[in-house]
Amino acid sequence: MRTVRDWVAMSRTPVADTFLQGADVYDRHIGRYGRELALELIKFADVRPGQRALDVGCGPGALTKQLASVLGAEQVSAIDPSSAFVQACQERLPGVHAEVAAAEALPFGDEFFDRTLAQLVVNFMTDAEAGVREMCRVTRSGSIIAAAVWDYAGQMTLLRRFWDSVAALDPSAADLDEGRSMRYCTPDELQALWTGAGLEKVSISDVVVTAGYEGFEDLWEPLQFGVSPSGAYVASLSPDRRAELKADFQHRLGAGNEPFRLGARAWLVAGRVP
Ligand SMILES: C[S@@+](CC[C@H](N)C(=O)[O-])C[C@H]1O[C@@H](n2cnc3c(N)ncnc32)[C@H](O)[C@@H]1O
Repeated sequence: MRTVRDWVAMSRTPVADTFLQGADVYDRHIGRYGRELALELIKFADVRPGQRALDVGCGPGALTKQLASVLGAEQVSAIDPSSAFVQACQERLPGVHAEVAAAEALPFGDEFFDRTLAQLVVNFMTDAEAGVREMCRVTRSGSIIAAAVWDYAGQMTLLRRFWDSVAALDPSAADLDEGRSMRYCTPDELQALWTGAGLEKVSISDVVVTAGYEGFEDLWEPLQFGVSPSGAYVASLSPDRRAELKADFQHRLGAGNEPFRLGARAWLVAGRVP
């Protein structure tokens, strides 16, 4: 089966590198859901004032910002392999310690944090087992590690309709669907990942968050700049095929020029460090 990873490898772009570009474009695409999701993840992970927290794969800082508002910026660290995102995080959130790094090799000592969170990241890690092991290492014994991942195969409406459209217009691209190609996007896989890392009292939940759009153009515009696997796919198309996809996708969403909201379900997983 051809995966997103294979496809971007053919175009010489690793999947994670689809996040190397501008924070502003990301904000207008997946970032629209970030604040609501961060508030839910923070609640699920029982983040409380007085703790020190790490945001793994921080992106431009949706979760980092909410952690800083609960804990204070000085109590929050954030890492991401994308230097553009880390720079955005540093500019937006002075006082937060943000640096370029990957989950698989966290630049922190053992048991440094009270909470370690990863929002929409586990499925992008090169080696998620190693990434979660590192998240455990840097977190105090008895403390919580938690993550959120989209329900790509089901109720993440934006991406579900997008990949349905891609598959309908180009069946040979059906395997690019993140709902088929991404790992760790189901409760069972997340439970196994957390349990396999030795985490205890593992719990799984789900949450539906929403994002608002001014109209379909507002949704489509940021998809054209190559950010995230969906954006990278659009950017790879000729103008004719791009227009075809745009029309089919708009039809599937039933969206016009009027404002609308979309729902997106994410799976949440949490466990305690032994
Ligand atoms: C969908 S974005 C999520 C960003 C942010 N957490 C949010 O909620 O908006 C995925 C992020 O994972 C980062 N990433 C990719 N591979 C990673 C790895 N091995 N370790 C840590 N972060 C990674 C990407 O650079 C990107 O910022």
